[in-house]
Amino acid sequence: MIQINEHYTEIGNNYLFAEVARRVNEYKGRNLDKKVISLGIGDVTQPIVPAVIEAIHKATDEMADAKTMRGYAPDAGYDFLIHAILKHDFLNRGIALDADEIFVSDGAKSDTGNIGDILGKDNHVAITDPAYPVYVDTNKMAGRKIDLLPCTPANDFVPAFPAQTPDVIYLCYPNNPTGTVLTKDQLKKWVDYALEHKALILFDAAYEAFISEPNIPHSIYEIAGAKKVAIEFRSFSKTAGFTGMRAGYTVVPKELTAQTSKGETLSLNALWKRRQSTKFNGTAYIVQRGAEAVFSPEGQRQIKEVIAYYMENAKIIKNGLDALGLTTYGGVNAPYIWVQTPNRMSSWEFFDLLLNDLQIVGTPGSGFGEAGEGFFRFTAFGNRENTIEAVERIKKIKN
Ligand code: MLT
Repeated sequence: MIQINEHYTEIGNNYLFAEVARRVNEYKGRNLDKKVISLGIGDVTQPIVPAVIEAIHKATDEMADAKTMRGYAPDAGYDFLIHAILKHDFLNRGIALDADEIFVSDGAKSDTGNIGDILGKDNHVAITDPAYPVYVDTNKMAGRKIDLLPCTPANDFVPAFPAQTPDVIYLCYPNNPTGTVLTKDQLKKWVDYALEHKALILFDAAYEAFISEPNIPHSIYEIAGAKKVAIEFRSFSKTAGFTGMRAGYTVVPKELTAQTSKGETLSLNALWKRRQSTKFNGTAYIVQRGAEAVFSPEGQRQIKEVIAYYMENAKIIKNGLDALGLTTYGGVNAPYIWVQTPNRMSSWEFFDLLLNDLQIVGTPGSGFGEAGEGFFRFTAFGNRENTIEAVERIKKIKN
């Protein structure tokens, strides 16, 4: 008899964005003449910048020559990319890491989902609510106990410490989906808390490139002591338009340890290395060359222009919704605008209204967790024309 992992029965049939896509496709099938604008899943629309494209072309040509072609990539990434990451993302912010603390991957979704492989099933996990659904879904798949930490206007979207001390804490800042941030002082409190309680912070910094204000940490390692308690996830998806190319990386400091049930202390860096070398065969050489080019002077200038373009979209959405008298959050240090639904509509009711009456797709807040009920997320990753048109259409809603 084949037995399934029964925890899969606890997570619903569809991943949030798959469910949104299903409903949208169904609508489109019934309304072939309608132009649907998607401000739903945070997928990029602007082309990959020229510096990266040039690097990809060059790497592709190398693959056509026996003298320069590459086979399997190193599991944790090529040195050329790891050194570019160490210099630009960390040393330039005063953070010293070793090359073997960086693990290049195919993106933060996989890594935030897979990290649970090296953590015991009995860990008590705390996750902010609302949150990127991967954190909750993957912990449910593993059968772990989850405590949700509500982040709402009532606490300024700053999670309070949980009643029961957790072993593992997920933090994502700038936050997906609320677009809110933690200051250095606020994040320091969590690092200190983790140090005091010997907990592990899984810090998702996929949106750090969108930070525009000072005093907002780009990396958790800007906080003293964080290397003892935190794993950090980074992504090229939104920073450099790699949603279709797939590249990210995870930092697992060598100072990080965890215990076996017998009380033996082991290195999480060594465990993640073991996990990746067994289950992952490296990010494509061509893609890694593209990622390396993100850090070149031209690459940096070009991606900053694209980020500014998306953040101008964020401003257009936020200003448009604010002018309508809706209450919005985020959109300043993150490409997401989190809005309270009008007339106390539920998140899915608002989704249906926008789709059926205005042909606009967003993401229902409740899909990110219970505390997201009554909220809705718009992404700034659309193109300018569609973003402006969507805001014009939304103005037709009567409050
Ligand atoms: C989102 O819309 O939350 C993201 O695009 C999802 C992802 O990065 O996987």
